[in-house]
Amino acid sequence: MSVTVPLTIALSKGRIFEQTLPLLAAAQIHPLDDPETSRKLILDTNQPEIKLVIIRASDVPTYVQYGAADLGVAGKDVLLEQDGEGLYEPLDLGIARCRMMVAGKPGMSLQRTGRLKVATKYVRSAERYFAAQGQQVEIIKLYGSMELAPLVGLADVIVDLVESGNTLKANGLVPLEQIQDISSRLIVNKAAWKMKHTRVMALIAALRTAIES
Ligand code: PRP
Repeated sequence: MSVTVPLTIALSKGRIFEQTLPLLAAAQIHPLDDPETSRKLILDTNQPEIKLVIIRASDVPTYVQYGAADLGVAGKDVLLEQDGEGLYEPLDLGIARCRMMVAGKPGMSLQRTGRLKVATKYVRSAERYFAAQGQQVEIIKLYGSMELAPLVGLADVIVDLVESGNTLKANGLVPLEQIQDISSRLIVNKAAWKMKHTRVMALIAALRTAIES
């Protein structure tokens, strides 16, 4: 009897999971559990050889990089913070769309002499952006609730994701400059790309068809 090695897809709970679900369904993949109600971290699907692993969004590239998952769905914001070693990024899934922006108090000028204090969890993206602008900055690493930083004098501006703009507005902040558009990407580890090529390609083709329709 031949045994098929499982194909494992890493996903994070919440928005990415919800928005990936219809794409997986179009590829005939249906999880047998709901991560919002189940405590399971490995979900079986209707296809016995396809498993989903449910992890933190920022851990998805690590699992895929180390081969603990063959594929994953990760936000471009997360991918920009990693070195991308051992990963292919073959498909923009067009989901979980938002913008990475510099934001601050209204009237705040970024073009000023001296070091600008920037609070963010997107340290690499912020460093790259301000270096390209020739702006000297001091980066203050935070893990969430960035909007608070300019209000309490921790930073002059923040670099954060903006979707509706409601969080900025509720805290009296405004978008100042756009760094880039963000969406979720399918990532594949290079070993799986080679060793499970046929199945990986079939999945990519099915997902691409679902996105295009
Ligand atoms: C994100 C982001 C902003 C907010 C933007 O936070 O960091 O705070 O959403 O969305 P809006 O423009 O629609 O208001 P999230 O809720 O994902 O939590 P986080 O602070 O853990 O990143």
